[in-house]
Amino acid sequence: MPDDTAPSLKDLVQTRFNEAPDVPLPDAPPNAVHAQLLSHRVRRRYKETPVAPELLNLLLACALSAPAKSDLQQVAIINFSDPDKRAAVTDLIPDMPWIKQAPVFLLFCGDGRRIRRIANLRGTTFAHEPLDAFMNAACDAAIVMQNFIVAAEAAGLGCCPISAVREATDEIVALAQLPDGVFPFAGLCVGYPADEPWVSVRLPMRVTVHTDHYDDSDLENELASYDARRDAVNPHSKQRDPARFGEVNDYGWSHDKARQTANADRLSFAAYIKRSGFDIG
Ligand SMILES: Cc1cc2nc3c(=O)[nH]c(=O)nc-3n(C[C@H](O)[C@H](O)[C@H](O)COP(=O)(O)O)c2cc1C
Repeated sequence: MPDDTAPSLKDLVQTRFNEAPDVPLPDAPPNAVHAQLLSHRVRRRYKETPVAPELLNLLLACALSAPAKSDLQQVAIINFSDPDKRAAVTDLIPDMPWIKQAPVFLLFCGDGRRIRRIANLRGTTFAHEPLDAFMNAACDAAIVMQNFIVAAEAAGLGCCPISAVREATDEIVALAQLPDGVFPFAGLCVGYPADEPWVSVRLPMRVTVHTDHYDDSDLENELASYDARRDAVNPHSKQRDPARFGEVNDYGWSHDKARQTANADRLSFAAYIKRSGFDIG
């Protein structure tokens, strides 16, 4: 029997963008994967319920089923199970208490070391261009992490990626004993969700999806309407750094993101990448 109370595809897309779909959609109920993806939210509060090791293994197997650039499989995942190491990560990033609360904390890394070792073992030398090599390993790590998130959400779990680990790159590298060529992409908190946060409203597809050629000529108008649509469901409780930027009446996502990116950050990450074997200049 179809569930008449389940949100339709149009409802789910409407919630994601907080506007009526501006593109034609299939005239059919959403399948379970599509409904899950359209309803995705990061989760930053978790129950104490542990994640069974067998389930974690399954999710990791799903994660590692992701496509991999040239089949090089340049990913490494560290499961921080030692409570002392978990505490050390939490101490490094005290403003994100969800790291401590999550029953599982994984570190997804790009791994440019393994293929270099393989080349050496098989009598060749790895000679790929360094920035492209770094990008490939970073993308592999990202796609594997996203596969993990999809698998975890399908099992009723919630996740929160933590790129803030790169604010303390040297300390995280030391804690996880990452050798040269292996770099942190993001941590991931995993647990059974303890709250029901809002769906984060996305930029409209007319801003992010282009036909045949790139076109951002209407960005300014689109930003104003997106800020308003987003603010209606995801309001900002306060303005970022008013001492530096002042207070504005129409403060929204675009103001917030412009202010958020107004400082150089994660310089230790760039330094680590360069000295760990990626000669990116
Ligand atoms: C690579 C990556 C790094 C992220 N790093 C953090 C982080 O350090 N701390 C955090 O609380 N959320 C982090 N997030 C979560 C984003 O803030 C979140 O995905 C975004 O606000 C959109 O919300 P949604 O995923 O619920 O749709 C990260 C997400 C990604 C994809």
